[in-house]
Amino acid sequence: MQSTSYSLENIRKDFPVLARKVRDEKDLVYLDNAATTQKPIHVIDAISDYYKNHNSNIHRAVHALAEESTEAFEAVRDKIAKFLNIKDRQEIIFVRGTTEAINLVSYSWGRENVKKGDIVVTTEYEHHSNIVPWQLLAQEVGAEIKYIDIDENGELILEQLDDHLATGKVKLVAVSHVSNVLGTITDVNRIITKCKDAGAKILIDGAQAVPHMKVDIDSLDCDFYAFSGHKMLGPTGVGILWAKKEHLEKMQPFHGGGDMIREVHKYETTWNDLPYKFEAGTPNIADVIGFAAAIDYLSNIGMDNVRAHEIELTAYALEKMKNVKGLTIYGPKDPQKASGVISFNFNDVHPHDVATIIDKNGVAIRSGHHCAQVLMEKLNVAATNRASFYIYTTKEEVDVLINSLEDVARVFKL
Ligand code: ALA
Repeated sequence: MQSTSYSLENIRKDFPVLARKVRDEKDLVYLDNAATTQKPIHVIDAISDYYKNHNSNIHRAVHALAEESTEAFEAVRDKIAKFLNIKDRQEIIFVRGTTEAINLVSYSWGRENVKKGDIVVTTEYEHHSNIVPWQLLAQEVGAEIKYIDIDENGELILEQLDDHLATGKVKLVAVSHVSNVLGTITDVNRIITKCKDAGAKILIDGAQAVPHMKVDIDSLDCDFYAFSGHKMLGPTGVGILWAKKEHLEKMQPFHGGGDMIREVHKYETTWNDLPYKFEAGTPNIADVIGFAAAIDYLSNIGMDNVRAHEIELTAYALEKMKNVKGLTIYGPKDPQKASGVISFNFNDVHPHDVATIIDKNGVAIRSGHHCAQVLMEKLNVAATNRASFYIYTTKEEVDVLINSLEDVARVFKL
């Protein structure tokens, strides 16, 4: 590890669920972190403390609890700004998660800016939340969706973006910073430069990136960036949309209701300032406050250390997986090019059978299409197995995974 502040043993003690036994007293080996991560006691305590001692609605009343809750909630916005190097806190919108963030952009920005005949470009390795909202938009306005394909290493063929941009019709390029299935790290800087030269806007789905590496939104200089709290130690139901103010100012609200208004009359309403114009109704206050504890936790470890740990684990796992009979691994084989996500299949064995067998050893992986059916079609499979690592994953746990996969190979005589 790069720093002495990274002590796996101490980190694991902070996660109560990691002490669980499952399936006949087996140690839990939790390798489904791309779906959601476990929560440290600091996050659990922050939520509990909020409800025990401060619970109140925010931005409304003047009583003591309301003031404390409002201050705590707004302090999280500042914390996120610092964590991601966002210069203007008014550009940070609290949403339920990445999916809601992308739908917000598709609805409020897309319906104003994407017209009949325009093109939205996305990629073959997107999660459904970065495909379906664009399909809904395209169907409504008569726009087209185009894809950047992946090559045999699971990396984007960026020359295809040049061809799309050359049409002069591309309004938006919507791309994952990291693939949730292959772990591929997208060369977002190159994409952003290409888009800027062509006058296209760019949305980055950072759901699988912000939890795993240092992200600097100011230097990225894209148009929209979305991510979720629950994949980075935080609670479910909290996510962030960051967008350039120049876009947010022109966009119509996504949801109407309390807090997003300045004045409401019988037949017309004026909108509140940013970011509140996009935060209708009572937000997920306790979980936003819990999310702050998650950001503190990751900041204390240091995102460079988080990344270094994942590279080390992924390299270790890939090396060992080479020796398991019948295994096909999808995506980059170079751990520098991927986050701690490994998707694989065993010849003709259905991934649910693999996952069920290894679950008997306490190993939790995800099997299925990973909400990425376009990618499954490309890989010509119905589903894959996916092991995904995080800050608390140990090499011993990777060994349990490998031994369990060897059990599968034996059971199916591979
Ligand atoms: N996006 C989550 C996953 O990849 C649900 O599993």
